[in-house]
Amino acid sequence: MAEKDTTPARYAVMGNPVAHSKSPVIHKQFAHQVGHDIEYTALWVDLDGFAEAVQQFRAEGGKGLNITVPFKLEAYRLADNLSDRAKLAGAVNTIRFEPDGTIFGDNTDGTGLVHDLTKNLNVLLRGKKILVLGAGGAARGALGPLLKQNPVVLVIANRTVSKAKELAKTFAHFGKVEAVGYDDLVGKRFDVVINGTSASLKGEVPPLPVNLFTSGAVAYDMMYGDKPTPFLEWAMLHGAETAADGLGMLVEQAAESYLLWRGVRPETKHVIAALRKGG
Ligand code: ATR
Repeated sequence: MAEKDTTPARYAVMGNPVAHSKSPVIHKQFAHQVGHDIEYTALWVDLDGFAEAVQQFRAEGGKGLNITVPFKLEAYRLADNLSDRAKLAGAVNTIRFEPDGTIFGDNTDGTGLVHDLTKNLNVLLRGKKILVLGAGGAARGALGPLLKQNPVVLVIANRTVSKAKELAKTFAHFGKVEAVGYDDLVGKRFDVVINGTSASLKGEVPPLPVNLFTSGAVAYDMMYGDKPTPFLEWAMLHGAETAADGLGMLVEQAAESYLLWRGVRPETKHVIAALRKGG
């Protein structure tokens, strides 16, 4: 009789840069919680070496990958089969290596965001006015899952309005989607404002008008850091009732990836709390 394979199943996150990724800590906590034996590492990948790194990881027995900046589009192109949400997002953040040798590409970012909003922050999105700032990959990944929650309207604002218009067209059949420039936001109010721009990375805030928030409104930044992002500071000063960063989204997208790989969705609240405390 063949001996049982006792080596831990291998997973990793690939990115460039990737050294500060919290994914290894998150997935190790998940595995511990559900009693699985897995190995999860952060792999720095050369900018022109992504496809090769993926094949090598599979050849070494890897079971699945998370993909982060700047490889999500390349992962999308590399996958043999895609989930519907990856097709909609136009990007892949999770790869599963199938027994038949094919690569399955998924995108758990938008679902992670919606989980964090609805389950952790108890924000009902149905019937709400949602504003998404930005029209890059991060914003795009959020649109499908947000629209599935049936907001009354979802407005996309971007500096380069043509990019917002393009996205609004792509997602038009999922609900009421509008595209605007920042100037067009004057006089409009929203229940939920989600920052999907990369402005926070540069210490900047998109050029937003005052009186943007309805009473009880939520401001959400997909970015996170040790202190509130510039957008969240601005939001608290300008009438948002709740301000939340993207740490919860990070843990929730990881839980969705874990579910895809291992068939169980780990509990997230304690993991988020532990990360907030720095552990
Ligand atoms: P990502 O994949 O993280 O979304 P991206 O595709 O480069 O990155 O997109 C970055 C987004 O942030 C864009 O919507 C960009 O606006 P433009 O398309 O007009 O360039 C937006 N962005 C970056 N810095 C910004 C700033 N200081 N204010 C407003 N928007 C900003």
